[in-house]
Order: sequence, then structure tokens, then C-alpha cells
Amino acid sequence: MPTAQSPMSISKVGLVTVAATLFATAFAQEGPNLGVTPSPELIAAWDISVAADGTGLPPGSGTAIDGASVYTRNCLACHGQEGEGLLHDRLVGGHGTIGGPAPTKTVGSYWPYATTIFDYIRRAMPYLQPQTLSDDETYALTAYLLYLNGIIDADQVMNAATLPEVEMPNLKNFVLAYPEA
Ligand code: HEC
Repeated sequence: MPTAQSPMSISKVGLVTVAATLFATAFAQEGPNLGVTPSPELIAAWDISVAADGTGLPPGSGTAIDGASVYTRNCLACHGQEGEGLLHDRLVGGHGTIGGPAPTKTVGSYWPYATTIFDYIRRAMPYLQPQTLSDDETYALTAYLLYLNGIIDADQVMNAATLPEVEMPNLKNFVLAYPEA
């Protein structure tokens, strides 16, 4: 059963208070002197978010035709020959099933923005070697998945200007959780 404060815990509290006061005095004078100021290169390496409207997309480009071989080398083992799913998520198909009794959610049938596919692949895939692909390869893979889903043509170039223009089939079925009054 827990007891009211024992002498032991009171003395601990006392010590912590003394230590905190000492630290506070030292920090006020010269700071903790921990870590280093991150370089612009270090910040750039972390700063890879792409917004729905395409803000943050890097230079580079690719088509589905370029993406097919990149996919075979880096993605097929887990996601199947043409994105039908294997060890891991299905990436293609499921169109028109989202509102029904057995929704099949893929990046094609469900995701509202094509720009998110680029962001996701660039930050997280291939699963075991994330962030090893070039931006051109990532554009090409994004194009390839859009093509396999019947959303763009095989030779359509995806880049920072064209990718945000791609309209995803399920976009209109999302509703605002907090509609503006
Ligand atoms: C070693 C297995 C593996 C490989 C290789 C791999 N993936 Fe994945 N992928 C996964 C796993 C596991 C998930 C689910 C991750 C999660 O939900 O956190 C996933 C999820 C995804 C998703 C999101 C699917 C969704 O509907 O949420 C996309 C898109 C994707 N992968 C694309 C790729 C691409 C493109 C490549 C090749 C560059 C690739 N993956 C290579 C294992 C893999």
C-alpha cells in the first residue's frame, strides 16, 4: 500500500530542488553548452516534407516508363509485379470500393493527393533502405504507380509543376472534419 511521503522521498525532493536551482543559475549565465548548431545541410536533409499543394517538391522528373525498372529492382519483392500486393500493401486498384462494404484502400483508390505519394516514397521506401533513391527515381516511381492505377499516361512527365495538377479519383469524397462556419 502506498504510504504518505516517507523520509526517503522527502530528502530526494530536497536534493532535486537544490540541483535544479544550481543548474538554473549556471544556465542563466552561459547556457547548457549541449549539442551543436545544425548546419544548413543537416536541416535540408531533414526538411523533406511535401505539402498537398506540392510545396517542397524538389527539382527532377520522371515518367512511368522510367519508373517500371526502378520499381522492379526496389519494390516488386514486397508489393508484387504490378502493385497488386505481395508480402506488403497492395498499391494498385480498389477503385470505386471505398464507399462500399469491402473497401480496398490503395494509394490509387484512397489517397487524395498525388504529391503525398512522392513524399511517402521519398521518406519511407524501400522499406529497408529508405531515402536511398534519387529524386528522379522517386518522380518516376510516383508516375509508375499513378499509371498502374489508370490515373496518368505512361509517358506523362511528373515533376514539381505537373504532379500537383494530377487529380486523384477519391479527392472529392473527403469531407472537412471541421467545416468552416
Ligand atoms: C521490404 C519490403 C518493402 C519494399 C522493398 C518496399 N516496400 Fe513499400 N511498404 C512496405 C511496408 C511494410 C509498407 C507499410 C508500412 C506502414 O504501413 O508503416 C509499405 C507501404 C508502402 C506504401 C503505402 C501504401 C499505403 O496504402 O499506405 C507505398 C506507396 C509504398 N510502400 C511504395 C513502395 C515503393 C515505391 C517501393 C520501392 C521503392 C517500396 N514500397 C518498397 C514494404 C516494402
